[in-house]
Amino acid sequence: MNDVVLEVATLTKAFGGVNAISNLSFETRRGEILGVIGPNGSGKTTLFNVITGVLPASAGKVRFCGEAITGLSTDTISQRGLIRTFQSATVFKNETVYENIRRGSMFGCIGKPSWFFRPGVVANGKRTAKETVAELLEFSGLSDLATRIAGTLPYGKQKMLGVVIALARRPLQLLMDEPAAGLNPTETVAMGELVTQIRDKREIDVVLVEHDMKMVTAVCDRILALNYGKAIAIDIPERIVRHPEVIDAYLGVDHE
Ligand SMILES: Nc1ncnc2c1ncn2[C@@H]1O[C@H](COP(=O)(O)OP(=O)(O)OP(=O)(O)O)[C@@H](O)[C@H]1O
Ligand SMILES: [Mg+2]
Repeated sequence: MNDVVLEVATLTKAFGGVNAISNLSFETRRGEILGVIGPNGSGKTTLFNVITGVLPASAGKVRFCGEAITGLSTDTISQRGLIRTFQSATVFKNETVYENIRRGSMFGCIGKPSWFFRPGVVANGKRTAKETVAELLEFSGLSDLATRIAGTLPYGKQKMLGVVIALARRPLQLLMDEPAAGLNPTETVAMGELVTQIRDKREIDVVLVEHDMKMVTAVCDRILALNYGKAIAIDIPERIVRHPEVIDAYLGVDHE
C-alpha cells in the first residue's frame, strides 16, 4: 500500500509576473503532521489555496490519495477528504457553538478511495449529525460552551471552534493555516495539543502552516521551509532549526 497521502509536484502559481509558488514539490506520508514555515509572503496560504482548488495552478500537479485533484472544484476536493482551516477565525458568529459544528457535519464526505478508509472514519460516517456534534464537543473540550453564541467567545475558543467545524466535515487530511495566530501563549499550547490529538486520536493527517516555532517543532514530524515560494528544505524539526538557509531566510529574522 502506498504511504503517500498528498503529492505536490512541480507546482507553480503566478500572480502577474511573480511566482508565489515556484516549481514546488513535496509529499506527505500517512499519519504525518507536516509543518510548513516561511516568512510572510513566502506562499504558504497560496499553497493551500491552490491545493484546495480555491485558485487554479499555473503549472504542476497535486495528487491526493493517489488521484489527481488539480483543476477539481473546492467542493469535490473537500468531499474527497481534504479540508482546510483559515488564518482568521471563521465561525458563524450569530449561531451557537453546537449549531456551528452541526453545520460542519452536514457537509458530506463522499468519493474517497475505498483503500483509504480507516476504522475511525467508517464509524464516524455512520453517525448521525447529533452524535457527531456531541462527540466533537467532548473531543475538543468545548462541551461546556455548546449553547454559547460563537461570536461572544474569546478569540482562542473561536479559532478552536473553526478547527472543530472542519473536523465535523470528516477530513482525511486537514490543512491548517496558522491556527495559533492571534492566540495567547496558553491558548497556543491548547491548540498545539488539539493538533496532536487530531492526528493521534482521530487518525487525521495534518499539514500545519504556523509561525509559532515552539508549536511547530513540538507537534510536527517533518517541516517544509519555504522562501519566495520555493522549498529551502524539508526535514525533521531538529535539523530544520539548525539549517543555515532556513535560519537566514526565516528563523533569524523577526516575524509574527
Ligand atoms: N490573490 C492574490 N493576488 C495577487 N497576489 C497574491 C494573491 N494572494 C497572494 N498573493 C501574493 O503571493 C505572495 C504569497 O502570499 P501568501 O499569502 O501565500 O503568503 P504567506 O506565506 O501565507 O504569508 P503570511 O505568513 O503573511 O500569511 C505574496 O507576495 C502575496 O502578496
Ligand atoms: Mg498566510
